[in-house]
Amino acid sequence: MKIPKRIQPLVDEGLVDEVLRPLMSGKEADVYVVRCGDDVRCAKIYKEAEKRSFKQAVQYREGRKSRNSRRARAMEKGSKFGRNEQENSWQNAEVDALFRLAYAGVRVPQPYGCFDGVLLMELITDDQGYVAPRLNDIILTREQALEQHQSVMKDVQRMLCVGIIHGDLSEFNVLLDSKGPVIIDLPQAVDAAANNNAKRMLERDVNNMTRYYGQFAPELLTSKYAKEMWALFESGKLNPESELTGEFKESTKAADVESVLAEIEAAFDEEQERKERIREAEEG
Ligand SMILES: Nc1ncnc2c1ncn2[C@@H]1O[C@H](COP(=O)(O)OP(=O)(O)OP(=O)(O)O)[C@@H](O)[C@H]1O
Ligand SMILES: [Mg+2]
Repeated sequence: MKIPKRIQPLVDEGLVDEVLRPLMSGKEADVYVVRCGDDVRCAKIYKEAEKRSFKQAVQYREGRKSRNSRRARAMEKGSKFGRNEQENSWQNAEVDALFRLAYAGVRVPQPYGCFDGVLLMELITDDQGYVAPRLNDIILTREQALEQHQSVMKDVQRMLCVGIIHGDLSEFNVLLDSKGPVIIDLPQAVDAAANNNAKRMLERDVNNMTRYYGQFAPELLTSKYAKEMWALFESGKLNPESELTGEFKESTKAADVESVLAEIEAAFDEEQERKERIREAEEG
C-alpha cells in the first residue's frame, strides 16, 4: 500500500521495507502491519497531543523521570519546548516500558525501537499466523479463564517487581496468542514507587482483569490479588517468585483519617475521569 507520511522516514532509514496494511485506528494511535526484511512487524504511530485524550492526565505523568533538569523545568512550565519534550517522553515511555518488561519476562510484544513517534514491535499472531484477537472479542471456558487469569496476575506481579504498573489494563489491551495472554498498550505506564496513584491504579488494573475472567470463572471474583501484591511490594517483600494466593486479610488497625480522605478524593477524581472518558467516547 501507499506509505503513510509518518512511516516514510523509517522507510528512508531502511528500518521498514514495506507497509502491508492498516491494522487498527485507535484513539491514541494508528497501527499498521509492516515488513522489515523477512519479518512482519507492527508499527504504532502516535497521534499528536491535541488529538489524544485522557491518558495524558497529570496523574499518569507524576513521577515520570526526565533525565535532564532543564527539560524537567521546561515540561513543568509547559513552554513550546516543554510540550515537545512532554510529547517525546510520552512516546518513549511505551518503548522504555516494553524493553524493561520484555527483559523481566513479562509477555509483551518485543520492541525494536521508537523512531520519530513510530513504535516498531513484534506483531502478535495466533497459531495460524493471523493477528491475535483481543480478549474482549473472545469467549473462554472456565479452565481457560482460570489459567489465563493466573498468567496475567503473574505478569502484573513481574511488572510490579520492576516498578511498573500498566495503568490501563483491561480486556481491550490484552491479546491472546497460542501461549496465552500478551499485554499491550503501555504509553501511560506508571512508576510504582514514585506515583501517589500507584496503588489505586494497580487495583483498577487487577480488578479489570479479574472482572473479565470472572465472567467465565465466577470464583475469581472474590480474589484479592491487588491488595496482596501491594502489601508485599510496600514492605519490600515482593519478588517474581513470591507465591500469591489471591487472599488478603485487611488490617484491623484503627483507620488513619488522612489516608481515608485521600482515598475518597482519589475515588472522586477517578469518577470524574471515567465520566470524561465516556463523554469522549460518545463524541467519537
Ligand atoms: N503488537 C501488536 N500485535 C498485534 N496487534 C496489535 C499490536 N499492537 C497493537 N495491536 C492492535 O492495535 C490495537 C490498538 O493498539 P493499542 O491498544 O496499543 O493503541 P491505542 O491507540 O492506545 O488503542 P486504544 O485507544 O484502542 O486502546 C490493539 O487493540 C490491537 O488490536
Ligand atoms: Mg489500546
